[in-house]
Amino acid sequence: MPATRVLTGITTSGTPHLGNYAGAIRPAIAASRRAGVESFYFLADYHALIKIQDPARVQRSTLEIAASWLACGLEPDKVWFYRQSDIPEIPELTWLLTCVAGKGLLNRAHAYKAAVDRNLEAGEDADAGISAGLFMYPVLMAADILMFKAHSVPVGRDQIQHIEMARDFGARFNHLYGEHFVLPEAAIEESVATLPGLDGRKMSKSYDNTIPLFAPPAELRKLIFSIVTDSRAPGEPKETEGSALFQLYQAFATPEQTAAFAQAFADGIGWGEAKQALFERIDAEVAPMRVKYEQLMAKPVEIEAVLVEGAIKARRVATPLLQALRHAVGLRDLRAQFEARPAGKAKVALPQFKQYREADGRFYFKLVSADGRELLQSVAHGSPREAGERIARLKRDGAAGLRHVAGEGLHLAGELIGKLSEDAVVEEVTAALAALSEPA
Ligand code: TRP
Repeated sequence: MPATRVLTGITTSGTPHLGNYAGAIRPAIAASRRAGVESFYFLADYHALIKIQDPARVQRSTLEIAASWLACGLEPDKVWFYRQSDIPEIPELTWLLTCVAGKGLLNRAHAYKAAVDRNLEAGEDADAGISAGLFMYPVLMAADILMFKAHSVPVGRDQIQHIEMARDFGARFNHLYGEHFVLPEAAIEESVATLPGLDGRKMSKSYDNTIPLFAPPAELRKLIFSIVTDSRAPGEPKETEGSALFQLYQAFATPEQTAAFAQAFADGIGWGEAKQALFERIDAEVAPMRVKYEQLMAKPVEIEAVLVEGAIKARRVATPLLQALRHAVGLRDLRAQFEARPAGKAKVALPQFKQYREADGRFYFKLVSADGRELLQSVAHGSPREAGERIARLKRDGAAGLRHVAGEGLHLAGELIGKLSEDAVVEEVTAALAALSEPA
């Protein structure tokens, strides 16, 4: 069974808080350890620019969020962990999607509509102070998701509309240009999708009611003690329903611990004691990770290196897909044959590998373009199997990794694999390989 791809991003606009941890980081890391799952987790720093115009803050937040994921146990070599702005294919795909996205649909995006409503209430022009970046936010987000053919996108409820828009843009593109994109689904973790903040509303930077994930213990305790409660005295039974304190506890406790806490509420536990219990519960989970976090924050060189590696890995997926998309929309090498849009499900002619045996008894292949021109001749192989393995590697990595070395020939990962045929150029070869690349 093919792997399920799970993808999610965190905007690098602030310091990670308990809501980000329980709602995104923790479930995402647990999911990344499941068999049959390929996880793509990234730092949405282009998205941050929509809200934040303070460069030092964007940088600091990127470092903090990267360090948080790693401190919480993300294993970068088992997942795709990267920074959005390291993948130039994402803004390029954003433009391709922009050209199929309905403006009317974007007009109805919640974040944009809320900004317009605020302006109108204040008696301002509808679009006063609203950047085109805010308006285009859902298209950039759709590019994040569609670029990696994600099946499942774990997000908070406030983001469901964005996933639906990604499906809409992806479906329109597929309809016009052939089946390139997987249509994603939002995945909401029912129990912990959103945590309440200090004031009981959703924990969010924009409400200024957050508890930083790695606040030092004294600050963590102080913040927990500032959580809003009702005025019931110790000894009076307390409601668990609607209690921010209780909901926070639940997000960090086993079902048995939660049941015991609910009983304590019914038995009239005092708010001070309940807050102390909550502090201890959260600190027990966070303290070991806090130590790692502080070590990582002291070594930005290491975090940068992890992200650079992650970008290389992510681009191995993004580059071939984008080449195929460019071809699909007509951004093409002018020497290639004109090729219309695929009509319905009609098959488009594809480039082909042809294997053969020479008089020397050795095994070769050539790559032939969709219009029948020879593009590449391989070096000799000892067996058909070796030749077949080369072909498989070319299909997988060739579009992104093929290099032409003058006087020698075509190299893949430092290995000579063949030579260009007469009149062919390396771009034709990589475009042909992109068209053949196994659906990742
Ligand atoms: N918009 C998301 C948020 O604010 C962050 C994000 C950006 C994202 N790109 C994404 C989430 C792609 C999931 C998939 O929470």
